[in-house]
Amino acid sequence: MVALFSMMMLGVGLCVSDLHKSIDITWGNGRAQMLNNGQVLTVSLDAASGSGFRSKDHYLFGHFQIQLKLVSGNSAGTVTSFYLQSEGSTWDEIDFEFLGNLTGKPYILHTNVITQGKGSREQQFYLWFDPTADFHTYSILWNPLCIILYVDGIPIREFKNYGSRNVPFPLKQAMRMYGSLWDAEDWATRGGLVKTNWSAAPFTASFRNFIANACVQSIPSAASSCTHPHSNNNNNSDNEKTWITQRLKRYEVDKLNWVHRNFMVYNYCSDLKRFPHGLPPECTVK
Ligand SMILES: *[C@@H]1O[C@H](CO)[C@@H](O)[C@H](O)[C@H]1NC(C)=O
Ligand SMILES: *[C@@H]1O[C@H](CO)[C@@H](O)[C@H](O)[C@H]1NC(C)=O
Ligand SMILES: *[C@@H]1O[C@H](CO)[C@@H](O)[C@H](O)[C@H]1NC(C)=O
Repeated sequence: MVALFSMMMLGVGLCVSDLHKSIDITWGNGRAQMLNNGQVLTVSLDAASGSGFRSKDHYLFGHFQIQLKLVSGNSAGTVTSFYLQSEGSTWDEIDFEFLGNLTGKPYILHTNVITQGKGSREQQFYLWFDPTADFHTYSILWNPLCIILYVDGIPIREFKNYGSRNVPFPLKQAMRMYGSLWDAEDWATRGGLVKTNWSAAPFTASFRNFIANACVQSIPSAASSCTHPHSNNNNNSDNEKTWITQRLKRYEVDKLNWVHRNFMVYNYCSDLKRFPHGLPPECTVK
């Protein structure tokens, strides 16, 4: 009995991350809500509007993690997103977008990296589990060397800093973390062939456990070096500084290749039709 009690206390102490502290709901007129003392944030979508939120802080580099349970049942036409974005017309952005589907049909995880306002770097994946059945962990590592996207700790995409003018890398603009649920029936599901069925609305997705091991920047437009890494996580032993120099490890390359071989749906780097005058430079750098 005593042992059980102390284990439960431990569980509560370590798992709670109060989203009120790190996140503001920014749109949707009541359709996004924080529940259970900020342990869970739900976003919903109906025919009138979607909803969304963003982090209070701006970050210049970090490892950002969130757990997400997607819209279940018929989610065709809906897009649930988790992304980092800076401000202005030459913004940087790193995207996870989950494209819904008819009941029983697979979601697509759509990713993009936009640097100085230029994107067109889409890679898409099926997932190796049902993302609507339970929470899974999605994370973005962003440091001066690389950007790596992870699903349950498995790297699915890497975008390196080649230190080249032709391939700009986000180095100077602080970004906020955003999340949302919105309608994109004109392109999301089978390229727009399957529309949203509003009789299933409202659609709802849930977020929890946002962890940012990151450099918080008070003036978002000011370039600065990351000298004071910070964590909103109670568990401060958790990689507090190592993310700033982290790269894809050798054993992770095998995992990334496994994902690409088995689950990749689209890769802009192999779309010769779209880039008849040559693939983007980062696709051909060795
Ligand atoms: C939806 O399911 C179809 C198969 O019916 C599949 O071709 C498609 O890639 C799936 N995902 C999306 C987002 O369209
Ligand atoms: C939308 O969903 C309703 C209820 O589930 C169903 O009866 C209807 O046929 C669906 N409409 C379309 C266009 O699939
Ligand atoms: C705390 O961080 C350490 C080091 O990364 C990790 O091994 C441990 O599982 C974490 N504990 C919790 C409860 O997240």
